Amino acid sequence: MKHVILDCDPGHDDALALFMAMGDPDIDLMEVTTVGGNQSLEKVTKNALSLIELVGGKVPVYSGAPTPLVKAPKWAGYIHGESGLDGVKLAPPKSEVAGTHAASQIVKTVMDSPDQYVTLITTAPLTNIALAALMEPKICSRVKEIVMMLGAVHTGNVTPVAEFNAYTDPEAAKVVFERKWPITMIGLDVTHQAICTKGVQKKLAEANPSLKEVLDGLINFFRESYKDEECFPDPPTHDPCAVAYALDPSVVKTVKCPVSVETKGDLTCGMTVADLRALAPKDCNTQVGLSLDVEKFWSMVEKDIANLRAGK
Ligand code: BDR
Ligand code: CA
Repeated sequence: MKHVILDCDPGHDDALALFMAMGDPDIDLMEVTTVGGNQSLEKVTKNALSLIELVGGKVPVYSGAPTPLVKAPKWAGYIHGESGLDGVKLAPPKSEVAGTHAASQIVKTVMDSPDQYVTLITTAPLTNIALAALMEPKICSRVKEIVMMLGAVHTGNVTPVAEFNAYTDPEAAKVVFERKWPITMIGLDVTHQAICTKGVQKKLAEANPSLKEVLDGLINFFRESYKDEECFPDPPTHDPCAVAYALDPSVVKTVKCPVSVETKGDLTCGMTVADLRALAPKDCNTQVGLSLDVEKFWSMVEKDIANLRAGK
């Protein structure tokens, strides 16, 4: 069983990651934390609450950083729409966020849990995680591992070399990568293989008819965004790849290597520089994903989504 904190910014693909984390019998979703990223903190938090309520979940939600540590925010409305989840009309949430700031709550949960108990899965800019690590450095040796959808070894998406979550808050990513916790970076090299074709979409909807309308709404909108913005015929579903890896590492081919985050370059800010030149040093605590077992991945998503019931 994985005891998970999911830090996210829903977001269409975050929604699928959240569904997976709630549907998988091997995940104990301890809490969900939100951060400004795909849209403003207020919007992504509302989305997280609505998604959880949609499937009858009882997971507490903590909202965290409204803006990156240093940079001015630039939300991804061009991909996720004005609401952060355009394409679906979710009921406004009845529940509210818990009072504590997400970063303080992450510290509390990790410090109150047994050593090596909590897995942090992040599918958003790393602002909350950096704040938590700065507030209580001890969490870095207590967390079991961090699995993040972030970065790219080869090609970026927001810029030629930078991926959105890293680009949005590069200073936070730098703080996180400079600490000695076990990090697996699931970047675009992996997630650009998680293409949600119409065939995959049909199977997901068939796996859970109670969620068909929501899934179709989300995926159809996402498909159009990726067609218009990035010339993808079908959308890459980034964030569920991190959940899948946390559940079954064999779904992603990884390699250990040092990773540094560029925060200064005019052309390279937000680049995750993975040093693949030689064997990683023995004490290397970072690894990067290089490719995805596509078939296994979608069957995991399908199985988890089948376990949920909308309106439960
Ligand atoms: C990442 O950026 C966001 O738009 C997605 O939700 C994903 O986390 C992909 O670059
Ligand atoms: Ca995301």
